[in-house]
Amino acid sequence: MENVTFHDYKPVTLSFRDAVIDGLSRGQKSIPPKFFYDERGSRLFDIICEQPEYYPPSVERRMLSQLAGEIAALTGTGRILIEPGAGSAAKVRLLLDALRPAAFVPMDISFDYLKSVAMDLARESPWLPTHAVCVDFTHSLPVPDCIAAGARLLFFPGSSLGNFSHNEAGAFLGLVRDTIADDGMLLIGVDTKKSESLLNAAYNDAAGITAQFNLNLLYRMRQELGADCIPENFAHRAFYNAEAGRIEMHLVSRKKQELRVNGHCFKLEAGESLHTENSYKYTPGEFISMASANGFREIRHWVDGDGLFAIYLLQVC
Ligand code: AVJ
Repeated sequence: MENVTFHDYKPVTLSFRDAVIDGLSRGQKSIPPKFFYDERGSRLFDIICEQPEYYPPSVERRMLSQLAGEIAALTGTGRILIEPGAGSAAKVRLLLDALRPAAFVPMDISFDYLKSVAMDLARESPWLPTHAVCVDFTHSLPVPDCIAAGARLLFFPGSSLGNFSHNEAGAFLGLVRDTIADDGMLLIGVDTKKSESLLNAAYNDAAGITAQFNLNLLYRMRQELGADCIPENFAHRAFYNAEAGRIEMHLVSRKKQELRVNGHCFKLEAGESLHTENSYKYTPGEFISMASANGFREIRHWVDGDGLFAIYLLQVC
């Protein structure tokens, strides 16, 4: 494949162990959500996206297909298109024909997954130079030197921003602004606040895929860190915390137990949880004011007819 290059910034192999030991040493035990996404976790996430209760992907996909022309009219064509956390790159495919980017830079934490996705993409779109970057995008957004100069458009769909706390989200927007520079634009999809029953159902799908995705952390701990945890001893729990404006996911210990990880021993009471994810929801007003506080100006935003999901096009100011 001639139109694809790979750049490995070696993201997490060393730090999963540190994150687990650090996270399990806290009062409220926790593991950061980025560790969901090994290859198995990335594939489970794709299956979550097909569950009827998990509305964001289908709503956002419908919006992007309908809006592609309108978005391209506002951004122009020929930009360098960057997508942190590209995953299966399913959504960007809806925009490529309209945006006709000069190059595509998918970034992902899972090298194997990124590789297969980038190869497929390069094969499907021989006209598109694709530069796949394996990196933990929460720390940096490295754009390889081989990429030609040109105005940038950073695409951040799927409400991935929701995993950040408000402070981290502000810092990430600052990092994006520095990466795309003065003539850059940001196209971002963010989940909205809505009825608690819809939110709770979205993270408790009937097929139990979100539960498997959550429990995958325990399989990773066993396989990669030699931890002695037994996934069957934990239950998936997800609920909307209205006060904090976020979904929380936890792995709840079904009994009093001890976990041994790399020479450390952690005690868990029955009912005690490992906090594995926050997923913040924003009203358009809340999101736009956060973006303004971090160097962006709104060009336009769109909310679907049911108020389920929002897409924002922003400009560096
Ligand atoms: C990828 C962070 C947007 O928070 O909705 C889906 C991850 N977790 N179901 C989200 C997720 C459980 C997802 N984000």
